[in-house]
Amino acid sequence: MHLNIMEKSELNNNHINSSFQREKWFGHEFLYEFHGFWFTKTYLETTQKVLENFKPHPKDVILASFPKTGTTWLKALLHSITHRYDTKDENSLTFNHPQELIPSLETNLYVQEIPQNNTNSQEFISTKNPQKSRILATHIPYQIFGGVLNSSDCKVVYVTRNPKDTLISLWHFLRKSKNFEQDPWELGAAVDQFCKGIVPFGSYYDHVLAYREESLKRPQKVHFVTYEELKENPKNCVEKMGEFLGCPFEGENREEEIEEIVKICSFEKLSNQEVNKSSELPKVFPLPYNSFYRKGQVGDHMNYLEDEMIEKIDNITREKFHGIGFMYGI
Ligand code: A3P
Repeated sequence: MHLNIMEKSELNNNHINSSFQREKWFGHEFLYEFHGFWFTKTYLETTQKVLENFKPHPKDVILASFPKTGTTWLKALLHSITHRYDTKDENSLTFNHPQELIPSLETNLYVQEIPQNNTNSQEFISTKNPQKSRILATHIPYQIFGGVLNSSDCKVVYVTRNPKDTLISLWHFLRKSKNFEQDPWELGAAVDQFCKGIVPFGSYYDHVLAYREESLKRPQKVHFVTYEELKENPKNCVEKMGEFLGCPFEGENREEEIEEIVKICSFEKLSNQEVNKSSELPKVFPLPYNSFYRKGQVGDHMNYLEDEMIEKIDNITREKFHGIGFMYGI
């Protein structure tokens, strides 16, 4: 028996609705619980596909992050650090959105059946040449993805950002979605859901803590960096990432090389590239490329969150982070 696409999707919908606990999110969206974390229906399906099919190569670099913590910036940085001697790659950030240079597994590569003629995507997830080194991104929590990540010697770079700026960035990002127009995600509700952990790929706190713990246990496998450190001392962070990735900055030009990478990946530079200003929708993502660049600042939450909202988030941060000695996020 062959099912047509509509029938298949109906079957899948019914399966997800009946098999997973769900909570209303906003608009017509629900979030579904999978191994203690929350996913939209689409990303629940694609995460399952990634878990079943993705095999990291030993030389791969996986950029992991919670959404809105600086993933796009890190994509640009990792690409620039690893391609800095590749003359064919010189203008890649001028003509490509960082999402194109480093695709994300569950929000990009596994969103749809990749047509055989899409050689770019096929290449990214091909298992044919395990010696090839790729950089791929993911928001899948370590608690779910750790087994896959540890199935090869691939390296992991994890970026995080303070919880209040992360939430405000997420809130702004979703304001651009159709769902928001129909039924806005009120900021008060967003704060409540964020604190309960019921946001896509949440809980934020559990997400951050597991990758951090792994970076402390195995610093040669997982490199942990924060958005705030990157803002404060980008050169130092770039240098450390070069070392971690096995391509350290050496020789008499090392200072200039680091400075150049920091410059071409800066918010000012990238957000002004035509490709990144585009309001066109990428093929497999529901929001335009320009939605990945907004303000790029530390502390913007102060312009939006009321005192009680700040207190509520800070209380959770104290409990979850400070309680175990991770003095971050307030
Ligand atoms: P804001 O909404 O606070 O401006 P992600 O890439 O994980 O989706 O995160 C998006 C956030 O990173 C947005 O934050 C965006 O503006 C910011 N960002 C994107 N590129 C950046 C860059 N090159 N430098 C600093 N911040 C950047």
